[in-house]
Amino acid sequence: MNEEQRLQGQQVKETNPTDKKSEKDYSKYFETVFLPPSLKEAKKRGKEEVNYHNDFKIDEQLRGMGTGKKFYIRTYGCQMNEHDTEVMAGIFMALGYEATDTVEDANVILLNTCAIRENAENKVFGELGHLKHLKQQRPDLLLGVCGCMSQEESVVNKILKTYTHVDMIFGTHNIHRLPQILNDAYMSKEMVVEVWSKEGDVVENLPKVRRGNIKAWVNIMYGCDKFCTYCIVPYTRGKERSRRPEDIIQEVRHLAAQGYQEITLLGQNVNAYGKDFEDITYGLGDLMDEIRKIDIPRIRFTTSHPRDFDDHLIEVLAKKGNLMDHIHLPVQSGSTDVLKIMARKYTREQFLELVRKIKAAIPDVALTTDIIVGYPNETEEQFEETISLYREVGFESAYTFIYSPREGTPAAKMKDNVPMEVKKERLQRLNAVVNEMSAEALKKYEGQIVPVLVEGESKNNPDILAGYTNKNKLVNFKGPKTAIGKIVNVKITDAKTWSLNGEMVETHQLAEVE
Ligand code: SAH
Ligand code: SF4
Ligand code: F3S
Repeated sequence: MNEEQRLQGQQVKETNPTDKKSEKDYSKYFETVFLPPSLKEAKKRGKEEVNYHNDFKIDEQLRGMGTGKKFYIRTYGCQMNEHDTEVMAGIFMALGYEATDTVEDANVILLNTCAIRENAENKVFGELGHLKHLKQQRPDLLLGVCGCMSQEESVVNKILKTYTHVDMIFGTHNIHRLPQILNDAYMSKEMVVEVWSKEGDVVENLPKVRRGNIKAWVNIMYGCDKFCTYCIVPYTRGKERSRRPEDIIQEVRHLAAQGYQEITLLGQNVNAYGKDFEDITYGLGDLMDEIRKIDIPRIRFTTSHPRDFDDHLIEVLAKKGNLMDHIHLPVQSGSTDVLKIMARKYTREQFLELVRKIKAAIPDVALTTDIIVGYPNETEEQFEETISLYREVGFESAYTFIYSPREGTPAAKMKDNVPMEVKKERLQRLNAVVNEMSAEALKKYEGQIVPVLVEGESKNNPDILAGYTNKNKLVNFKGPKTAIGKIVNVKITDAKTWSLNGEMVETHQLAEVE
């Protein structure tokens, strides 16, 4: 979206300058924005070209805005949101703010929200309720809502009506406007709402403060054009836009030079990477084939859509090396009829064929998945097809969900004859199979020596270290703190349902297995 489009529908409200909440005079920059979202607009996929920008800079006048102030961001949802939080943290720091991890200390609180299921949204509304108290005690505190929920009209209307203590709402397409939005919020008595319903361009040079120095996220594309009938993401994240390969490669090289041990390439549907390029034919396989040559020990990617998973990518992944042999491949259902209503655009048989090809090329690959149970009108037989597919593929783990209607999506309008108790019972039955097969997959590790990237102390016991194997299995083991940030070999002593226990082995015992 360009500036002109953005300004359409924007109302500039008058505010008394004495109401301003910050001491510095930002009045030159003053504008109170009211630009609410529209799902209808978001649905349209325009033909306009994506423009790439390298010109992000913080306005001289806004630079000291955060001096002496602290920010706090709470992140909900997927890795895309976690990474957006890293970018927003980068912008805050560039404005002179300091980070804090307690809301009580913060001068600005942002909730970076997720809209994928109703319970994700309810958590945010609950938190907004809790924060009302803090805002009453400290009226100069700025409270903002951003992320996927902000892109929904119903959410913005609810906040405007019920959560009037919120100071600002902005969406997923304009996080680079954070400095101006903050400034507007300081200057205004009204709630600042600036949500772009159509995707923005790709801004390359945004600052980032990464959460750790061991693993890093790297966006390779934004948005999703798949429009699975249950899913809100194509509306909240806009159309598919791929970053240029040279920009991605440069970022990965830079991370390698900084000593990062693992990168995860991110997108809602990474297999569609490059399909929007008009000047080059270049896909995820090509990108991975280049990135694997960079000296970084581990490379992962998420999330894959089975439909676009092509042979070239399989061929490249089979070269292994630093390309990890774990693929997260959401199937959603094992029933061809349900898949059709979901608009997943593959059948059970096509999915199984893809799995067969992947396993032929990478025999010891670990596959994990996402599954939705209780889709509108899902029959007992259709649900059982999901269970049988799960076993047939031999998935090692899964994220499982009860279908949650999302306003504005086609599935939300479908009549549904499956009672909630039945959905809950199906989820339990599926989870029992998921647990059983996870434990089975982990059992095979007993006695093996595997490389583990050590991330830090275990959550429950500071004497124990925790890290992940190539196939992304959690390992807890005793070892020296100097191992943190390194890949060490661990002998697995026993397997639990979701994690492994082990002992670090001496260097002379090191072996390349898994
Ligand atoms: N882009 C990814 C999925 C992102 S959302 C993909 O297509 O694979 C993560 C998961 O949330 C989805 O795979 C799906 O299993 C689940 N999900 C999405 N919308 C949902 C809804 N309305 N109700 C329940 N689960 C949903
Ligand atoms: Fe949602 Fe489907 Fe896109 Fe995944 S591929 S984000 S499930 S619409
Ligand atoms: Fe949630 Fe948005 Fe991610 S809806 S799952 S945070 S893309």
